[in-house]
Amino acid sequence: MFSEIFHLDETTTEAELLDLISSLNADPRFHGILVQLPLPPQIEETVIIEALDPIKDVDGLHPFNVGKLLQGVPDFIPATPAGIQQILLRNGYDPAGKHVVVCGRSNIVGKPLATLLLQRRAGSNATVTVTHTRTANLAEITRQADILVAAIGQPRAITADMVKDGVVVIDVGVNRVDDSTRRRGYRLEGDVEFEAVSAKAEAITPVPGGVGPMTIAMLLVNTLTAARLSIHGR
Ligand SMILES: NC(=O)c1ccc[n+]([C@@H]2O[C@H](COP(=O)([O-])OP(=O)(O)OC[C@H]3O[C@@H](n4cnc5c(N)ncnc54)[C@H](OP(=O)(O)O)[C@@H]3O)[C@@H](O)[C@H]2O)c1
Repeated sequence: MFSEIFHLDETTTEAELLDLISSLNADPRFHGILVQLPLPPQIEETVIIEALDPIKDVDGLHPFNVGKLLQGVPDFIPATPAGIQQILLRNGYDPAGKHVVVCGRSNIVGKPLATLLLQRRAGSNATVTVTHTRTANLAEITRQADILVAAIGQPRAITADMVKDGVVVIDVGVNRVDDSTRRRGYRLEGDVEFEAVSAKAEAITPVPGGVGPMTIAMLLVNTLTAARLSIHGR
């Protein structure tokens, strides 16, 4: 795949970014456009996402694509949720009939994952609970999970007392933790206390090396889908 990275200055205006998106929408060399979030404060995220041509929105964030996901007829499933679903299915953990607890309700992970897994279709059919910072009795809910997805952004937020024996854990978190023993001065940790939770879990994804590489793989899948859509239509 041909790809190009456009590194813009952090003082870029909303109008300048809209101009770039408009030219990429019209450029046949590109089937997919990914806007790296978050954006600086002078740029409104929703304005930028809505400016993307939905057929090139390989992150699946445009309202058209969010709506299609909700209806169960997605062109693009956001890459991280799509990767999580594939990790489960390809390791023999079909979410059908399972209680999946998703910790986190971001537009990029928690909400689309919950939407994806509750669909009435193969690879989904889960009973889904979504938690967030206003959830009362979080541990009571996470202990009910057959499959627990942590997309919180807090290192080691999910501890062993918060899970039941035999749980399947997907750790989405990528957190930088200061570590003077590392040359770069930090290490990456997930949202789950890995050692203690893995002693109770039937399966658990590592950080790094779990959800992250799958996210990249699914972004490539979405780009291929976008190229096919541009040629064959829906
Ligand atoms: N591996 C990958 O490819 C990949 C991709 C995307 C993200 N990530 C990582 O995944 C993590 C989450 O990312 P995100 O973009 O979804 O994060 P986000 O936008 O910061 O959302 C975090 C969510 O977690 C909830 N939360 C925070 N602290 C909590 C707590 N103590 N108890 C319960 N809920 C809590 C928040 O609740 P409120 O809504 O109430 O604030 C929010 O819904 C980050 O570490 C990020 O780096 C990894």
